[in-house]
Amino acid sequence: MKEKLAKIKEEVLAQIEASDSLEKLNEVRVSALGKKGALTEILKGMKDVAPEERPKVGQMVNEVRAEIETALEQTKLKMEEAEREEKMKNEVIDVTLPAKKNKVGHRHPNTIALEEVERIFIGMGYEVVEGPEVEKDYYNFEALNIPKDHPARDEQDTFYINDEIVLRTQTSPVQVRTMEQGKLPIRMIAPGRVFRSDEVDATHSPSFHQIEGLVIDKNITFADLKGTLAEFAKELFGEETKVKFRPHHFPFTEPSAEVDVSCFKCGGKGCRFCKGSGWIEILGCGMVHPRVLEMCNIDPREYSGFAFGVGLERIALLKYEIDDMRLLYENDDRFLKQF
Ligand code: DAH
Repeated sequence: MKEKLAKIKEEVLAQIEASDSLEKLNEVRVSALGKKGALTEILKGMKDVAPEERPKVGQMVNEVRAEIETALEQTKLKMEEAEREEKMKNEVIDVTLPAKKNKVGHRHPNTIALEEVERIFIGMGYEVVEGPEVEKDYYNFEALNIPKDHPARDEQDTFYINDEIVLRTQTSPVQVRTMEQGKLPIRMIAPGRVFRSDEVDATHSPSFHQIEGLVIDKNITFADLKGTLAEFAKELFGEETKVKFRPHHFPFTEPSAEVDVSCFKCGGKGCRFCKGSGWIEILGCGMVHPRVLEMCNIDPREYSGFAFGVGLERIALLKYEIDDMRLLYENDDRFLKQF
């Protein structure tokens, strides 16, 4: 009996040793200690043991059982510990890894340029006003001294909604809308989107932005226009910037001019940026045509004024040295991120 018990013990301990999972360990427990287990078998056989021997055998069985239980319990603890450690290892946080960044949006180069222009003119006492993008032919052309048969219409071919309504080709109609309200004097800029049926290329887009400027008051002269735009150019492109007025024609101003600024890259010596000329064209301007004033019920003998129109994209391209306008509209993150 003694040997039989010793053998059972040895076998069960070996099985415990060989177990590699908690399930296996449980199987060993059942087969050793369960109802049909080897030890239970021995207890069942007690009836064949001499009565005086029974307590001894009983004690031996209990001792073996206790040893097996201890071994089972210890092995189980060890396995659980190992499992926990494994889990900890897998869940380790590597604090040296780069953190996930939140993508924060920011202003478009057009917006940055616009806010810069607005800042400059607000500083000179101008108001910022807006007008509709879908505009009456009357405001976009007629009231700006561009009648139906005027050749200037061809330069600004647009998208017609019907005979009377167009997508505005310029922000100049906001001049008329503001003057019509009859509140004088006027000192305003009007930024906004405009449309022309142009082919897309590096310098053209069927939709772009302009900033219109208008000043109406008593005794406003071309000198005021010059001083204002010279100051604007200095603020935008640097203190050293000079302006040059070239005679030009716009139907709604008389006289009219185009304005160049001295190249802020080479200071006017001539470089690749200004195509060797030392000058960069930036806007159109002039003294508001008396006929335009009259159409807005302003008496040209009492009031005069100047106006100008500048392309917003042109400024953004120049300021940030972007060589293709299309980049401004493609919304490529890699491009936009740089500003
Ligand atoms: N609207 C003109 C254009 O789109 C630009 C312009 C020129 C606006 C002269 C003006 C101006 O107000 O006086 O070409």
